[in-house]
Amino acid sequence: MLLHLDASARRKSFSRELSSVYARAWRTAHPEAAYAYRDLAADPIPHIGEAWTELCDHILEHRITDVSRYHEAARSPAQRQAWAVVEPLLEEVVAAEVILIGTPMYNYSIPSSLKAWLDQITFPRMSLEGRSFVVTSARGGAYGPGTPREPYDHQERYLRDFFKGHFRVEDVTFIHAELVNARIDPALAHLRQQHEQSLAAALEEAAR
Ligand SMILES: Cc1cc2nc3c(=O)[nH]c(=O)nc-3n(C[C@H](O)[C@H](O)[C@H](O)COP(=O)(O)O)c2cc1C
Repeated sequence: MLLHLDASARRKSFSRELSSVYARAWRTAHPEAAYAYRDLAADPIPHIGEAWTELCDHILEHRITDVSRYHEAARSPAQRQAWAVVEPLLEEVVAAEVILIGTPMYNYSIPSSLKAWLDQITFPRMSLEGRSFVVTSARGGAYGPGTPREPYDHQERYLRDFFKGHFRVEDVTFIHAELVNARIDPALAHLRQQHEQSLAAALEEAAR
């Protein structure tokens, strides 16, 4: 199964365009496979609340590592309500072979809509080994190797570290369209061609 998420606040967005190109190519190559889609910006996932933290503490304290047993942590009505939010999200993640995330860079990092999803579906020592993540992203600037802004990239670095460090997934692919702000910021107009090249390369990679 392909689980496809989008997180841009914009409807007409480069990270969405890239994720849809990737999803189309993947579904053509896997016509029998299931597909699930979530628009995290249009249908926001609520932030975790206190009852969620109680689920998490119970899972940690009782060393529950099997996701299919997490529901045991929901004991009170508030905890059962918190679990009702988590359960369908987790089911999709566990069923997916590939988790595709279309996300912009916001303030050097990821949008809070995506962070809210990640907070809801992540539990102590939860492994997603055997799955792969594909992240299609758009950024106003350039953060590639050797650029002055490279150290400020807490979007790719955060996601890569988290997927590897927590979920034990190393099969993570990033496809970036960079310098998007060159389309609108007169101060970056001289970088427009570089942006067009970055976008064309990203679209080609996503289609592949
Ligand atoms: C709230 C906000 C914060 C942003 N922060 C950054 C940033 O820190 N670095 C950057 O290079 N671009 C930044 N941008 C520009 C976006 O990354 C750029 O517009 C990108 O195309 C957004 O992705 P989208 O086209 O999928 O919506 C920001 C844009 C918004 C709306």
